[in-house]
Amino acid sequence: MKRFPRLRKEIGQRVYRALKGVGFLRSGKYFLYEARRSFLDGPERNREMVGLEYELNPDPFGISTNQEDFQKQTEMLDAVRGQSRFRRAFEIGCAEGGFTEILESRCESVLAVDLSPVAVARASSRRLWDDRVRFRAWDLRLDPLPGAFDLIVLCGVLELLYRPSALRSVWARLVDALDPGGCLLLQTTYANPVVERAWWGRYFLRGKWIDAYARRHPALEVVATQTASYCIRSLFRKRQSAALLSAPVVHQAARALRVINARGDSSSSPGDTQVH
Ligand SMILES: C[S@@+](CC[C@H](N)C(=O)[O-])C[C@H]1O[C@@H](n2cnc3c(N)ncnc32)[C@H](O)[C@@H]1O
Repeated sequence: MKRFPRLRKEIGQRVYRALKGVGFLRSGKYFLYEARRSFLDGPERNREMVGLEYELNPDPFGISTNQEDFQKQTEMLDAVRGQSRFRRAFEIGCAEGGFTEILESRCESVLAVDLSPVAVARASSRRLWDDRVRFRAWDLRLDPLPGAFDLIVLCGVLELLYRPSALRSVWARLVDALDPGGCLLLQTTYANPVVERAWWGRYFLRGKWIDAYARRHPALEVVATQTASYCIRSLFRKRQSAALLSAPVVHQAARALRVINARGDSSSSPGDTQVH
């Protein structure tokens, strides 16, 4: 064989092509890639990647040409709010402020944040904003939630968190920051088709699995869902019921009630709240 280098090369190429076509090997390649991405992910890396995007491009996420998304997102919000306005909106990952413009007339106040200070500066100087709209550099992974909101908009952001534990903790904190009865609009871009189809995709929380995970939160109900070829949009509403508070909160409340009962504090009536 050593004497037939061309034949060797051709056989090598054929074997490579045949292996590439075997589903589980392709899937394995993506598995390793996603495993590596999850392992390397962290706040620093997130910041570096986003920083680089904004330094190199005037509109890195194509927000200026994003009219279709904006229109669909607006339809979903308008359907749920009717004639009323949201009181306090929190837009996470506002980029250059394209969707903030739409929120401005639909909300009494808007806090629009982004990890990138460059994006925040561009959004603030996009035009003259009403005083009710504020911008701030803010990190979804690290910074405390700046209050409670009756609308949270989170479009195209969660898929940039590659570590599943980070995504889970962020989601729990966001739902906690939502007022009972408040709405949360989530848009998630699909991952690579191989990852979307793979059985292991759910463990990495990529693409459609992000939306599927978000739906499982017991405090949320799905009000509307839309799908496009590249993304899924879901509008959630937080339930009013106290029975759906997260377990630690329920246990804290139960403990507090027991203390009050033991003290015989007559100013409260523990029978009003059923804690199991
Ligand atoms: C794909 S763009 C989406 C922009 C806009 N929401 C939209 O749907 O058109 C994602 C935005 O999220 C921001 N982002 C990424 N990681 C973030 C984080 N950890 N905290 C806050 N914003 C983040 C990015 O800087 C970027 O502007």
